[in-house]
Amino acid sequence: DLAPLIDPFARAIRYLRVSVTDRCDFRCTYCMAEHMTFLPKADLLTLEELDRLCSAFVGLGVQKLRVTGGEPLVRRGIMTFFESMARHLQSGALHELTLTTNGSQLARYAQPLADLGVRRINVSLDTLIPEKFAAITRWGRLAQVLDGIAAAKAAGIRVKINTVALKGVNEEELFPLLDWCAREDHDLTFIEVMPMGDLGGEDRLDQYWSLRDLRDRLSGRFTLTDLAERSGGPARYVRIMETGQKIGFITPLTHNFCESCNRVRLTCTGELYMCLGQEDMADLRAPLRAHPDDPRPLEQAIRAAIARKPKGHDFDYTRQRVRGQMSRHMSHTGG
Ligand code: GTP
Ligand code: 5AD
Ligand code: SF4
Repeated sequence: DLAPLIDPFARAIRYLRVSVTDRCDFRCTYCMAEHMTFLPKADLLTLEELDRLCSAFVGLGVQKLRVTGGEPLVRRGIMTFFESMARHLQSGALHELTLTTNGSQLARYAQPLADLGVRRINVSLDTLIPEKFAAITRWGRLAQVLDGIAAAKAAGIRVKINTVALKGVNEEELFPLLDWCAREDHDLTFIEVMPMGDLGGEDRLDQYWSLRDLRDRLSGRFTLTDLAERSGGPARYVRIMETGQKIGFITPLTHNFCESCNRVRLTCTGELYMCLGQEDMADLRAPLRAHPDDPRPLEQAIRAAIARKPKGHDFDYTRQRVRGQMSRHMSHTGG
């Protein structure tokens, strides 16, 4: 294994999340405004630049690469990028190549992704009711996503469903979602909604449904056992004894996983965010473009950025208000 990047708090950075586009074919209300201005094409890293940049991280010890967006599968030529990353899987440097997707394009891409070595994917799905799905995503078609998920399963890819817990929106769907995931053998993780993006004056507390409450509802019906295991990600897990299902909870507003944080995030314009909940970032596009034939300035810039990784994020929902709300949309850093 390559020596890892180590941050000031002795955390090894082995996981890179890379957003390949800020665009999406949906507009989930908690993620984007209805009318978004997307980035001009010249600001985007080209596929070749994305390859060079991600390969530099792999050369510095990154072992897990998650492709995100926006919706990663709407980026033109995206399979070329997956193909170029697959060579790092073959060399053994990269242990996992994966993506987080809304599923809308999966029917088409699931098999090619599986062929390149993608073994597990995360699919965002907040409801199984078509009308509600259309309202949350502003116009998405549930059937298209379910077809995509089925295609992934048929291609032998393991699916983890990510459900954002939304008060007054999908509270009633806790048990239907659980049942469906049990039947389909998908993993399921619930995420607390985070204060990202411009919220038009109000804050997202209106929609904030705490996972503590969600968990209480679960334990009203089932026997839950806490699992000690951590995936290296932010989720905590419980086992539902009656069904055998393992359910994840991501409570980003607690600090309970910052101490073992192993990740950094790259935007589609080459900005490196050292923390999801902080504004600080490093521009890697400049050294990347200035030195197309010399990887060293880029590596130096990456090391310098990692040396600035903060101890934790600035989100705070205590006292019923949000401190440090991010003006950045989630689609900018890919969650
Ligand atoms: P695996 O652990 O590999 O399954 O994936 P993951 O949970 O890291 O990735 P995924 O894209 O499924 O992330 C789900 C959500 O968790 C993200 O959209 C964020 O909402 C949240 N999340 C992921 N990483 C972090 C993090 O470092 N900090 C915070 N605060 N939230 C995170
Ligand atoms: N809070 C929590 N999760 C969010 N996501 C997007 N915006 C938010 C938010 N404000 C989630 C999506 C997807 C992942 C990439 O990010 O549902 O699962
Ligand atoms: Fe698109 Fe995902 Fe954001 Fe929804 S949450 S708008 S599917 S990027």
